[in-house]
Amino acid sequence: MKLFVSDIVHDKEIIDTVFEASQGAIDATKKYGIEHVVNGAFGTYFDETGKLLTFDTVYRAFDRVDDIQKAKYASSIMGPPEFQEAVKNWLFKSVDLDIDCDIIATPGGTGALSSTIKNTLTRGQTVIHPDIGWGPYTTIAKEQGTPIKNYTLFKDNVFNVESFKETCLQVMHDQGKVLAFINDPCQNPTGYTMTEDEWDRVLDVVKEVSEQGPFVLLHDIAYIDFNLKGESYKKIFKRFTELPDNVLTVVTFSASKTLTAYGMRVGAQVLISSNEEQRIKMKHACGNTARGVWSTVNNGGMRVFSDIALNPELKATYMAEKQTFVDLLVERGDIFVREAKEVGLPIYPYKEGFFVTIRIDDALLKNELHLKLKALNIFFVNVYGGLRVAICSIPKDKLYGLAKRVKDALDDLTDTDEETEPKTETD
Ligand SMILES: Cc1ncc(COP(=O)(O)O)c(C=O)c1O
Repeated sequence: MKLFVSDIVHDKEIIDTVFEASQGAIDATKKYGIEHVVNGAFGTYFDETGKLLTFDTVYRAFDRVDDIQKAKYASSIMGPPEFQEAVKNWLFKSVDLDIDCDIIATPGGTGALSSTIKNTLTRGQTVIHPDIGWGPYTTIAKEQGTPIKNYTLFKDNVFNVESFKETCLQVMHDQGKVLAFINDPCQNPTGYTMTEDEWDRVLDVVKEVSEQGPFVLLHDIAYIDFNLKGESYKKIFKRFTELPDNVLTVVTFSASKTLTAYGMRVGAQVLISSNEEQRIKMKHACGNTARGVWSTVNNGGMRVFSDIALNPELKATYMAEKQTFVDLLVERGDIFVREAKEVGLPIYPYKEGFFVTIRIDDALLKNELHLKLKALNIFFVNVYGGLRVAICSIPKDKLYGLAKRVKDALDDLTDTDEETEPKTETD
């Protein structure tokens, strides 16, 4: 029988581990009450009372955006001039950089990631990801019909530059072109941030590999505004201007975390390359994707971001408010990481940000632990190589003792005398 869907999409199923785990936490909360549930599944920030965090500075500024602005299409497919200026200000001016770049407004970071694959690879060409990475990277690649080759993210608890290099060389050899993803700082799901030295070594690899063909480096900065170095992290962007003309860097920006505005769907691709001609081709291609796939981005969302970025007083208020929650994440991270160490629960090297990941190399054991924790009303996201603990969504009082509860559950499973089957219908 002929299908309604096309041959290339007929076996696509939408399986999203984050949404799935989150739904489990929501259902358990309804059934047992919030006090009996640890919701470490959501990748969104919840305050200490368990309420979704909404920055006052952002939402009061949003209230002041005129209805007409909210209702209107944006004045440009690429994003209005003030939005373009705002993105530049946010990323570059705050560290005194003036970088020649092209900006395309996108629906969130996801739109930026997707458009970058679509416009740099053809179906069947391979995209390079970290082995431990944000789940939807896989979905986005599937959507574009691009197989994935992973580099191993860590070796001895530091960024595995050798694996990154080997993977890039292999893909360059096979297809004469590379598109490689790096998610930094506050990597999702491990909370790792690369050192300056690691960045230097990665960029040396980029330079070397680009001698053989075009190299597109995608730098996913979704969590940039929650890093502990603050604005000075942004100095990294200068280095992208010094790369050879066979390199295009696409910085993918997301306002979701920055503004606690996940539903507003505002983001951007920022194209940096010394090869202006090629960069402009990419800009046009991405502009066409914008028009042909989502049209314009949420005008009210872009306006509020622009208002905050371009008004020094408003930005200062935002920065102060955000800092409170950067500090709170540090406290939460300290509790979980310290206790994990005390009880001997293995975790990947966490530095900062929304997530810590418990390391479990044995996939079967990891799946069993995931189920067992669910039965205890503890919800994490099952990722490659471990279980992601969203400390952004767990208040401090629920973090105390959590590492021990997880370690006890793990010990139960590894003790062969114990039964391994989870017991409740929540599985
Ligand atoms: C690593 C990473 N990149 C990109 C995104 C994109 O987010 P959005 O599309 O909401 O901007 C997310 C969101 O969770 C993320 O975790």
